Amino acid sequence: MFWMMVAAAAGTAAGILVPLVVRRVVDGPVRHHQTGGLFLLGALALLLGVLEAGLAFIRRWTQSAVSLDMEYEIRADLFQHLQRLPISFHDRWQSGQLLSRLTTDLGVIRRFVSFGLIFLVVNTATYVTVVIMLLRLYWPLGLVVAVSAVPLFLFSKRFTHHYLATSRRQQDQQGDVATLVEESAQGIRVVKSFGRRRYMGRRFEKAARLLHDTGVDKARLLARTWAEFDTVPNATLAIVLVGGAYAVATGGMTVGGLVAFVSLQLMLVWPIDSLGWIIANGQEAMTAADRVYEVFDVQPSIVDRPGAVAVPRADVVGRIRFEGVAFQFPEAERPVLRRIDLDVAPGETMAIVGVTGSGKTSLVSLVPRLFDVTEGRITLDGKDIRD
Ligand SMILES: Nc1ncnc2c1ncn2[C@@H]1O[C@H](COP(=O)(O)OP(=O)(O)OP(=O)(O)O)[C@@H](O)[C@H]1O
Ligand SMILES: [Mg+2]
Repeated sequence: MFWMMVAAAAGTAAGILVPLVVRRVVDGPVRHHQTGGLFLLGALALLLGVLEAGLAFIRRWTQSAVSLDMEYEIRADLFQHLQRLPISFHDRWQSGQLLSRLTTDLGVIRRFVSFGLIFLVVNTATYVTVVIMLLRLYWPLGLVVAVSAVPLFLFSKRFTHHYLATSRRQQDQQGDVATLVEESAQGIRVVKSFGRRRYMGRRFEKAARLLHDTGVDKARLLARTWAEFDTVPNATLAIVLVGGAYAVATGGMTVGGLVAFVSLQLMLVWPIDSLGWIIANGQEAMTAADRVYEVFDVQPSIVDRPGAVAVPRADVVGRIRFEGVAFQFPEAERPVLRRIDLDVAPGETMAIVGVTGSGKTSLVSLVPRLFDVTEGRITLDGKDIRD
């Protein structure tokens, strides 16, 4: 990360120095019609250009590697966390919402870390450095450029406000679409046997349309802000050209100075333009991170008691006892099972009979702890299974 920042800063510095070489060329060889020293200045500009390209390569390479590592690790952690979470969590959460968090959202976060964040730092540093250099070149016009940051700030503030909500909506809708695709792929046999293809098609169409509309909303917001951002450097450039020409005519500035000023100022166009994109990217990463943390923040509810020990398989005899067991689903009003006492000897086969919905499956799922009993206890060879 450190070297990446160094490469980014050095690369930008090399780029910024080029206009200063141009000034030397214009005010020296061009103005005095001399070719001496021109070769040297040309070589210097070339060297700076190559240096900038080389450093940009190092920066891109390291930043991609670092952010891909980060994505991989968060993804692995999140997956492990999902495995630990109880069945009741997975009953509540749509699989597509988890899928989109593990894939799309983590990708959005990585893109911000590998591009947005770096460019935010690099562009801000470029902006400040260039403005300082402009102020030193010719302060009245430098001031004009510096003040142009104010409308930029106001535009971005309004943009952030709207974009955050839209971006969150889009991510949730992506999850809904993923759920529908997953459900109909998994359940394709059921869908086909019951002739539900049209129905599933309509549901999908509706969700996909909502996602499309949100995408268009986002694009409109971004396009408008982009246009606003675009006007600022262009309007400033017009002022600088007129003001600069006047300053040169009245002797306040050299021609080389004006050329350098304009070249430097042109270097601000891309950082300002990209600001809209970076802010958008940042907002998306923020909402994506919120979504990922919503899952990370869920504590596994089925946990071993303090001091619980693993029983070696070879030591298991297999006597299962239910002692006064009651069980109620988390959101249910009444318990499914009450006052259950059972004693199953090793090797014994037991049949559980009951009307549908009477709780047979629930009873059996208490043994492997897909759910935990709400009252009483289940023992294996006399030891509570939670211990
Ligand atoms: N995950 C759940 N969350 C809330 N309630 C549930 C859940 N699973 C089952 N139930 C409810 O618990 C009761 C018992 O369900 P269970 O599946 O254990 O019955 P069953 O005896 O296995 O039925 P069947 O004979 O149809 O398999 C039912 O009223 C059911 O609606
Ligand atoms: Mg059942």
